[in-house]
Amino acid sequence: MAEKKNGKRPVTVPFGTLSINGKSRALVNKVLDSNRVSCGKYVREFEKRFAELVGAKEAVALSSGTDADALALAVLYDFGAHRGDEVIVPALSFVATGNAVLQAGFTSVFVDIERNTLNIDPLKIEAAITNKTRALMPVHLIGKPAAMDAINRIAKRHKLIVIEDAAEAHGAEYKGRNAGTLGDMAAFSLYVAHIITSIEGGIVTTNRKDYAEILRSLRSHGRACKCDKCVLNTASAYCAKRFKYGSSNDIRFVFERIGYSSKMNELEAAIGLGNLSDYHSILARRRKNLGYLTDKFKRFAPYLLTIEAGAKEKIGPHAFPVIIQECAPFTREDMTAYLEKNGVETRTLFSSMPTQCPGYKFLGYELGDFPNAEYIGNNGFHIGVHQDLKQRELDYFLKSVADFLSDKIR
Ligand SMILES: Cc1ncc(COP(=O)(O)O)c(C=O)c1O
Repeated sequence: MAEKKNGKRPVTVPFGTLSINGKSRALVNKVLDSNRVSCGKYVREFEKRFAELVGAKEAVALSSGTDADALALAVLYDFGAHRGDEVIVPALSFVATGNAVLQAGFTSVFVDIERNTLNIDPLKIEAAITNKTRALMPVHLIGKPAAMDAINRIAKRHKLIVIEDAAEAHGAEYKGRNAGTLGDMAAFSLYVAHIITSIEGGIVTTNRKDYAEILRSLRSHGRACKCDKCVLNTASAYCAKRFKYGSSNDIRFVFERIGYSSKMNELEAAIGLGNLSDYHSILARRRKNLGYLTDKFKRFAPYLLTIEAGAKEKIGPHAFPVIIQECAPFTREDMTAYLEKNGVETRTLFSSMPTQCPGYKFLGYELGDFPNAEYIGNNGFHIGVHQDLKQRELDYFLKSVADFLSDKIR
């Protein structure tokens, strides 16, 4: 391992990585040469490939995972939802989940999580449902599938839509089905830290063709165009439907709903397509790393715990979470400062959006309202399990944890 400089070791266990392969590079050049870089045929191809991979009938590519959450929610306005209606989300998530609800014009209603899964507590959902609730948006945090059977049962009972926030759940499986097929719609992030990436980007999967059409309209300002392959985005821009909308209006300038500007572009799709061709090997390497750390980490109980896959469940190997337990005679900050100083990059495990994110103060929640989410907000962190980490680096992390503990626990 590299030597310490000024008391700090160079990064030995980096949090993230980026694999841009030859296929991505060749496609990027092709796109640039074609002079057609806005949403077009490569985006469509990426959508098809992503839908196939997940096992959904439709996929609609967008400019971010946050927009994937928000636009999936905005589909509900076509089915009788009103602005200000309520959407139930877990209190603990990356803040984008809560932001997307507000950006879509809904009111976020938060429910506490379970400390051992990091996911929304299904037993607490029904108490949060009112006659304004329209959707449940569980998050598969750090790739751990939420309790989808219970969540879908509740949704059915109360006639609610279920949107999975699957931003971090690439490769997650629940009872033999992939994350992305477990509700009515699912929102993935394709941001660079995620397993399938287009650098920036997001994608919604669904089995409903009508939802996919509305999403295509929403991503392009709410215009009436919603064909899966819009010829206006190709070099031969002739559309037979263009002037046949209603009283011969140009369909491009008929705005049927309040939309967004959220298209994926061809360069992002080119990166994504190349990335998809390496998906299975990237996933396998990440699964191996996650499995290795999960197994070896058991020896740090009862002071440190991680999460574990339930029966018939596979965690999407997004990252490796660590939760410092009450019996530990040190704080998260003590531990992450030690790891960072020794070259292990760490990130916090997010926070309770309503009570630990200052931007959410205006909603009027109070510290103590979501004890489990707040506990993780104060005591959780995560490190990478990405495809470029080798066993040597994972062992280095484990040794750093062991050294830290042996100094603190005597
Ligand atoms: C749970 C969750 N939801 C939504 C998002 C938003 O995705 P993006 O950063 O692509 O907007 C993220 C981002 O990592 C996330 O972790």
